[in-house]
Amino acid sequence: MSATITTSPHATGHVVRAFGNLLQVRYTGDIRQGEVAEVHVDDLKLKAEVIEIVGDEAKVQVYEETSGVKLGTLVEFTGLLLEAELGPGLLSTVVDGLQNPLEEVAKEAGLFLPRGLYMSPLDRERRWEFEPVVQVGDKLRRGDTLGTTVENRFQHKIMVPFTLYGRYTITWVIEPGSYNVDTVVAKAEDEEGREWEFTMVQKWPVKSGMIEGEKVPPTKMMETGMRIIDTQFPLMKGGTFCSPGPFGAGKTVLQHHLSKYSAVDIVIVVACGERAGEVVEMLREFPHLIDPHTGDTLMKRTIIVCNTSSMPVAARESSIYMGMTMAEYYRQMGLDVLLLADSTSRWAQALREISGRLEEIPGEEAFPAYLASRIAMFYERSGVISLKEGQTGSITVGGAVSPAGGNFEEPVTQATLSVVGSFLGLSRERSDSRRYPAIDPGISWSKYTLGVGKELSHRIDDWAEMVIKADLMLREGIEIGKRMEVVGEEGTAVEDFVIHLKAELYDFTYLQQNAFDEQDAYCPLERQIELFILLNRIFDKKFKFRTHSEGREYFINLSNIIKNMNYLPRDSREYRETMTKVEEMVKHHE
Ligand SMILES: Nc1ncnc2c1ncn2[C@@H]1O[C@H](COP(=O)(O)OP(=O)(O)OP(=O)(O)O)[C@@H](O)[C@H]1O
Ligand SMILES: [Mg+2]
Repeated sequence: MSATITTSPHATGHVVRAFGNLLQVRYTGDIRQGEVAEVHVDDLKLKAEVIEIVGDEAKVQVYEETSGVKLGTLVEFTGLLLEAELGPGLLSTVVDGLQNPLEEVAKEAGLFLPRGLYMSPLDRERRWEFEPVVQVGDKLRRGDTLGTTVENRFQHKIMVPFTLYGRYTITWVIEPGSYNVDTVVAKAEDEEGREWEFTMVQKWPVKSGMIEGEKVPPTKMMETGMRIIDTQFPLMKGGTFCSPGPFGAGKTVLQHHLSKYSAVDIVIVVACGERAGEVVEMLREFPHLIDPHTGDTLMKRTIIVCNTSSMPVAARESSIYMGMTMAEYYRQMGLDVLLLADSTSRWAQALREISGRLEEIPGEEAFPAYLASRIAMFYERSGVISLKEGQTGSITVGGAVSPAGGNFEEPVTQATLSVVGSFLGLSRERSDSRRYPAIDPGISWSKYTLGVGKELSHRIDDWAEMVIKADLMLREGIEIGKRMEVVGEEGTAVEDFVIHLKAELYDFTYLQQNAFDEQDAYCPLERQIELFILLNRIFDKKFKFRTHSEGREYFINLSNIIKNMNYLPRDSREYRETMTKVEEMVKHHE
């Protein structure tokens, strides 16, 4: 017996009605919701998914363009849920929502994926050095490690398939050596005495979470090298965040930054119905960019899931689940994974379209009533899990949201906001004034500030307090700035004006960051801490300016000096000298 999911009895049916990609099929046999069906068109079998069953009729959503489907077209039900194939070799690949490897497809069939062609994401020929860690007689459970191989720089664990329950006693193990993924590497007997064979590949259904081990609260920050995030609105490994923003405000640029610089092991990018050009740009860029944490090229730790534009909405929905399932697989190996989705609004639109075709009762803005629970279920698949031998693995999830007209009151943004741990809201006001990254500190928040403060307490004891104080000062400064627009500078007390100047300094020299400068694009945490402490000295200082203009000049000068310091390498003499100069300027000001 091989280790695959038990299949329900074979069932077949015929198309009785069709609306676009949604087919109504009269069937005989036993089928279930979510099962994969194959629609026979000429000699092609188009993949589809059962999305509703009523009596002897099923509604089936085809992942492909459906021309050629007629009344009476044969549909076969596979008994299998939509699954991801998991094993060594997934890293560095670019797959679509059904996990077809796009590079291989391109070699095989040119740039466009023909209908009905499905390919495995794993290279069947490639050999992997397999090192067994079990012995005959060992008793194992799902998720236990059979052996390991090295994938890029990671120890890839070959595990007992997660779809199996109960205890398995190892009866045979292969010698260490180089094998392809389909090689049987171990055999085991279950409690009923049946024999099972394990290869380096397993399959997981994508729509529900797969987890072995206990979920524990996040305790470690996820460094991003972006000051406004790491300091002011921090993220944690295993946590969640969203970045809604109006059209063109910088959501994709932000996601690309995070995929490049976040201090995690693996990044999975789900380009969900976004422009093809953006993915092409990543593909061009990533193999040449160096991961600042490891010195390896970025593509080595990255998987990109994207939809070819020819694929209909059902595939768009599956891409987000496909990405999540691969993330869960690597989390089980004790790795920290970041899953980024751009944009979840496109996914929600797919849900809306499918729901419309199903003639379901629509909720707000015609989204289905279950929109909020789907979004919540997706983000809930994030988290830290504790594994054997004190190891942990995590999935951090970040979704871009693109609300129409930049209005955050709409259902997708609202549903997302109620489940995430950090909200990085981009605003038109910030992007129009070119204050990049356009994360608006006036509307953003993070629930992880105290957690990060605790983690950093061995290095600096009042981090969280400083961050909260800076946040309050910033908000006060913004308020004063707004009032000043009405009453003018002269109508504002000098003390208030100084608060405004401090807030502007903080914004200009710290929260804003130049994505195109070699030094400034990525600001390591150590450097952030150093600069933040310096700025806090400025925030705490009671400056005594006789006039507004005296204050303004002093702060403009200070801002420019610090801004320039951001462009200097931290280990340079110039950087040190500037640091000392600023310290002196602040200390000796009367
Ligand atoms: N951090 C940044 N630094 C400099 N320029 C930026 C930055 N972020 C965004 N931009 C500018 O804004 C443009 C649009 O950004 P981006 O494509 O990320 O927006 P978006 O919010 O994803 O848009 P859409 O809603 O269309 O998906 C970029 O091409 C770039 O010129
Ligand atoms: Mg975008």
